[in-house]
Amino acid sequence: MAKTVLITGGASGMGFLAGKCYAKEGENVVLVDINREALDSCVSEIAAINPNVLGVVTDIRKYDEVCAARDQAVERFGSIDILICFAGGAECRLCNVHGEFQDNPIDIYDFSIDTNLKGALYFDHAVMKQMAKQNSGVIVHIGSITGQEGCGANVGYSASKSALMNGMTKSIALAGAKYNIRCVCVAPGPVLTRPGMAGMKTMLGRAAEPQEIVDLVMYVASEKGAFINGVNILADGGRDIMRNKG
Ligand SMILES: NC(=O)c1ccc[n+]([C@@H]2O[C@H](COP(=O)([O-])OP(=O)(O)OC[C@H]3O[C@@H](n4cnc5c(N)ncnc54)[C@H](O)[C@@H]3O)[C@@H](O)[C@H]2O)c1
Repeated sequence: MAKTVLITGGASGMGFLAGKCYAKEGENVVLVDINREALDSCVSEIAAINPNVLGVVTDIRKYDEVCAARDQAVERFGSIDILICFAGGAECRLCNVHGEFQDNPIDIYDFSIDTNLKGALYFDHAVMKQMAKQNSGVIVHIGSITGQEGCGANVGYSASKSALMNGMTKSIALAGAKYNIRCVCVAPGPVLTRPGMAGMKTMLGRAAEPQEIVDLVMYVASEKGAFINGVNILADGGRDIMRNKG
């Protein structure tokens, strides 16, 4: 029987790629994104592969919209088996701010934490209600090497990703255990969803192809990854150990 996979940030980059891959495997795909135009176009492209796709325009920072997206997914497909929280991004890019931390308006950090941390918490909360009823499910958070190494230019992003990678992934795994719900975080190093990422150093001398990260996410969410729970997996081409060596 087809699984239902709900993907936030599904109208771009790795979220959209994951949606296409799951559609090719015959699964039901629910794409959630704030960008209506991009979402419509992504849903049409996936529908050409597999008609079992639904797009729901949702701002992940608004809990009522998050619950409405969950409800539409369940109404259409009957369950949510996998939740993948791809939506997010660094505030210096999303808000185009490049000042010193203390000189930037405080709203930038509210925005970043709401987008990168609270949005995932809202989705976990809303979707776990459904997964608990099913007594099964997998939740995949998406962290970042920036949550590991810190970043003065993206304090909100780094703090949010760090919380996702550590406390939130462990806590959701603990909360979900009695309902047979796993939670895992995948934290990429630089990924070529944008050409600019090619400039970030890794031990391999290159950034990741988006497919490399999506393959890992799909593995941990699958039965093959059934023994992986409550942990963060850093997929950074060795950037972290390179940095530690100085
Ligand atoms: N690309 C990289 O190098 C890289 C590295 C490490 C981690 N990541 C993380 O991986 C994830 C995906 O990265 P990507 O480069 O594929 O992303 P992307 O920027 O291509 O897509 C992100 C999507 O999230 C959506 N989004 C943003 N705010 C939203 C909101 N409030 N509600 C709903 N949707 C919203 C955007 O509209 C966009 O479609 C992000 O969380 C990112 O932080 C990316």
